[in-house]
Amino acid sequence: MCGIFAYMNYRVPKTRKEIFETLIRGLQRLEYRGYDSAGVAIDGNNHEVKERHIHLVKKKGKVKALDEELYKQDSMDLKVEFETHFGIAHTRWATHGVPNVVNSHPQRSDKDNEFVVIHNGIITNYKDLRKFLESKGYEFESETDTETIAKLIKYVFDNRETEDITFSTLVERVIQQLEGAFALVFKSIHYPGEAVATRRGSPLLIGVRSKYKLSTEQIPVLYRTCDIENVKNICKTRLKRLDSSTCLHAVGDKAVEFFFASDASAIIEHTNRVIFLEDDDIAAVADGKLSIHRVKRSASDDPSRAIQTLQMELQQIMKGNFSAFMQKEIFEQPESVFNTMRGRVNFETNTVLLGGLKDHLKEIRRCRRLIVIGCGTSYHAAVATRQVLEELTELPVMVELASDFLDRNTPVFRDDVCFFISQSGETADTLLALRYCKDRGALTVGITNTVGSSISRETDCGVHINAGPEIGVASTKAYTSQFISLVMFGLMMSEDRISLQTRRQEIIRGLRSLPELIKEVLSLDEKIHDLALELYTQRSLLVMGRGYNYATCLEGALKIKEITYMHSEGILAGELKHGPLALVDKQMPVIMVIMKDPCFAKCQNALQQVTARQGRPIILCSKDDTESSKFAYKTIELPHTVDCLQGILSVIPLQLLSFHLAVLRGYDVDFPRNLAKSVTVE
Ligand code: F6R
Repeated sequence: MCGIFAYMNYRVPKTRKEIFETLIRGLQRLEYRGYDSAGVAIDGNNHEVKERHIHLVKKKGKVKALDEELYKQDSMDLKVEFETHFGIAHTRWATHGVPNVVNSHPQRSDKDNEFVVIHNGIITNYKDLRKFLESKGYEFESETDTETIAKLIKYVFDNRETEDITFSTLVERVIQQLEGAFALVFKSIHYPGEAVATRRGSPLLIGVRSKYKLSTEQIPVLYRTCDIENVKNICKTRLKRLDSSTCLHAVGDKAVEFFFASDASAIIEHTNRVIFLEDDDIAAVADGKLSIHRVKRSASDDPSRAIQTLQMELQQIMKGNFSAFMQKEIFEQPESVFNTMRGRVNFETNTVLLGGLKDHLKEIRRCRRLIVIGCGTSYHAAVATRQVLEELTELPVMVELASDFLDRNTPVFRDDVCFFISQSGETADTLLALRYCKDRGALTVGITNTVGSSISRETDCGVHINAGPEIGVASTKAYTSQFISLVMFGLMMSEDRISLQTRRQEIIRGLRSLPELIKEVLSLDEKIHDLALELYTQRSLLVMGRGYNYATCLEGALKIKEITYMHSEGILAGELKHGPLALVDKQMPVIMVIMKDPCFAKCQNALQQVTARQGRPIILCSKDDTESSKFAYKTIELPHTVDCLQGILSVIPLQLLSFHLAVLRGYDVDFPRNLAKSVTVE
């Protein structure tokens, strides 16, 4: 996830300093979407509208560092006034390439900055595009997927068939070649004072401000109906010239400002009048007029985009309709798990390709054992996937808490492969365990959510989980994405095992339906809130299960204790009679996770043991389970998926429960006492 912000003042004179301030403030509002580097593209010193130089300023680190850098630019006269200017800005959350100046956005087409672009999303076919462009002589400087877009638009421009091709036509041709997700804003020296923005899968909206009346409340969408398959046709078909009825501008003096952003939080302080772009819309501003066009019309298309009036507070917008980042992140999971799989799982061919591991696959296949190491929630992701990794890799798999692994001076050998699971990529215990394994010659693999973090830099290879920044201290969406990343690794390892093909296909089918099933689980939120109302005054909560769902219990109990400050324990149901049963009485709430999997019968035994002690079990069970519900005090019924993925669905009710319990108990969900998001001390 990255943050996009762009600002155009048309016939509204602004000094360069004012333009800087607007761009920086926009980025600061979006910083929660990514904060490893930031950059802007603005017009150079010649302040005429028709001037032809774009100045790029980029800096590694937070937006504050970029802000300081802007004022250090000797060549930038801050008092220069621009009657019309278009500036673009970006705050990055790295997905391809480490956070540094070259990889940060805006990305450029060439050394003269003819075209510059900012991007939020992931281009999955960027390697093919890059290869093609390199074969045409375009030289790349960064490791990003975004640079291919900047080079591609220059390629289309260099090969244009007519001199008067419009900026939006170029962008239209570019996006026809892109696969994946994107929100893009372009600026070019060839189109001074013009802007083009587009999106597919990533959000983008445009704010409008003018002291004059706007020409319309609905912007009609122009369609260019032609055969997408036939690129030559597209090239020949030209968009008809705009007239006033097909665009938005300010009536009167025409002075108007446009704000482009990934979300409304960056716009609301300037204007509450916004237009939400739809997938594949191409929005262009030329001569202060905003028009929207699409290549092809589909039956369901709305033929216009309304200018909407936002009635929200800033804080509300940043968290959407959610009261806390943790809640927002829980609800983002249909999207975040999809992003983890995007471009990696091919559901047609039943294959999985993790680009960061492919060159080491042979070595991993030959190893003595896999050791999966992490702390807290990240450790639980390892516990959750251990069984399926053993099954798919046919290797011994050890899962280890980093601190304990180090305390024991655990023997590690050159033919071991060690995985380090970490959302932040900076956890001290995990990092020390990584260095310990490296010193002993093992191959090290990072599974992190933070490109450029210490763990991703110091490991030999790795997987970026692509869950987007996680702000709530209690980890939620990172857990499900780590889980999926490890399952994908198992699938990649087993690709050539004939005996495992049926199982692999079953799991891949399960992965495909996960986003929809997660949505179904999230729809239980109200029911879970009601359950929290019954439980929030309790002092203790036990969470019990076994097999694939033991990790669910550990993770659910961790969520409950860290944000509700209740005592909570995740108990392996097989251990019940060896001690924990003594805790069970009619007062103690016991949550039992019982799924239709190979442990179902054994879980029924545990259920009997609990009810025999007058315990009142709250059961998370499959929708079609009539047996467990007979003995339940309460049930939460979940959709069924393949056994090894069920833990992704069963952990979500516990994430929601912990959230509601914490709110009812009056605690700050995003900042639990004594805890930090990144634990960089041993
Ligand atoms: C719990 C939680 C922690 C982290 C642990 C490791 O909700 O967030 O238990 O999982 O501190 O952090 P990372 O994954 O950043 O290494």
